[in-house]
Amino acid sequence: MTDINSSPKRNILVLGSGGREHALCWKIAQSPLLDALYCAPGNGGTESVAHNVSLDMADHAAVIQFCQDKNIHLVVIGPEAPLVAGLADDLAAANIPAFGPGFEAAQLEGSKGYTKDLCAEANIPTAAYGRFTNAKDALAYLETQNAPIVVKADGLAAGKGVIIAETMQQARDGVADIFDGAFGEAGAELVIEEFMTGEEASFFVLCDGENALPLATAQDHKRVGDGDTGPNTGGMGAYSPASIMTQELIDISMRQVIHPTLQAMAKRGTPYRGVLYAGLMLTPEGPKLVEYNARFGDPECQVLMMRLASDIVPALEACASLDGSTSLAGLTLEWHQDMAMCVVMAANGYPGAYEKGSAIGGLDKVDAATVFHAGTARDADGTVRAIGGRVLNVTARGKTVAQAQANAYAGVDTIEWPEGFCRRDIGHKEIAREAD
Ligand code: AMP
Ligand code: GLY
Repeated sequence: MTDINSSPKRNILVLGSGGREHALCWKIAQSPLLDALYCAPGNGGTESVAHNVSLDMADHAAVIQFCQDKNIHLVVIGPEAPLVAGLADDLAAANIPAFGPGFEAAQLEGSKGYTKDLCAEANIPTAAYGRFTNAKDALAYLETQNAPIVVKADGLAAGKGVIIAETMQQARDGVADIFDGAFGEAGAELVIEEFMTGEEASFFVLCDGENALPLATAQDHKRVGDGDTGPNTGGMGAYSPASIMTQELIDISMRQVIHPTLQAMAKRGTPYRGVLYAGLMLTPEGPKLVEYNARFGDPECQVLMMRLASDIVPALEACASLDGSTSLAGLTLEWHQDMAMCVVMAANGYPGAYEKGSAIGGLDKVDAATVFHAGTARDADGTVRAIGGRVLNVTARGKTVAQAQANAYAGVDTIEWPEGFCRRDIGHKEIAREAD
């Protein structure tokens, strides 16, 4: 266990610029172990809890130089791109601990085919699949299957490379689109999967390469419109915990999905360190893996950070240890018993084209909720402006889902931003379940 009183204070760098990174900074900033907190590049919200630094995450040498100059003890990598680019490996080579997997282990998110092969090898429940590098073989495989069926670009496609084909023609068109370059490099390979039915839930687990510490469950709302309609987005809202993930389903998921994954990764010589985000389909036959992400979800991270009562720094450090001097063994985390909900406010037009630059008012009047910033920047005079698609994450706790929702929307309604919108029904399924 870490003895806080005798521990030297840490300098920590968080990488990213979304609501996820603001929530991580907000939580880390509360740690008694913290000395200085930096966020690169950060946003208009992170600068109230951290020093924003203009640093290009893709320039690993520049990140390492900054860490050496500022004596950084821990780098927390928020998004997937730097993980898949091997930033954690380069930091480790420079003796700088990083939270987040190295290049090989990040393939759990970076390549859908990699994950499917691992599931097959470790007998992890997931959709039946085929993995293809050319259209001829993919089309021949489709001839042996029935619709609905799912066609996926193998690589990172910002959540857009998945085609749920209702007909075999849509599936064939999907194969052609992917190999014609609709998703660029991500579509050099594809996976064809059996369509699974059930409700989806997200499950977050911290991993130190050997030990796994379940964090929490959550559900998000991917569609842009009320009633889960319209195009997919990065996520318009989330809540935690997800009551549909009962303790029994959590135990089954740990036993059948998470532990076999970690064992298989360790056996391959690429132990998984960081947060493992399992997207699960709760099918009539039990939980099945839809996908892995190698990072926290956004906006799921915001609700997790609101519920976490313990200091997060020792847990992040345990996953980032370079010499095994700390681990997750014996570490426990306390959680607020409340529900937490996050409502995303986005620029009008998102996920299509939207305007940038509008001013946002009323932020300092919000008291029922905590507002995590995503696509915002602050003028020299303090004016907050929208500069992205997803802009604010209004996040609140409550004893019930209905209360958390009322608090979150009270926060939303205090914010003056005519150029933005949000869904008005975040948590609707959970509220219906609670009312039962
Ligand atoms: P992914 O990026 O793999 O998580 O896929 C994005 C979304 O597509 C998931 O959250 C599911 O809603 C849906 N999806 C992906 N794979 C399947 C599948 N095999 N069966 C049913 N739905 C799926
Ligand atoms: N909210 C979904 C994700 O972060 O992937």
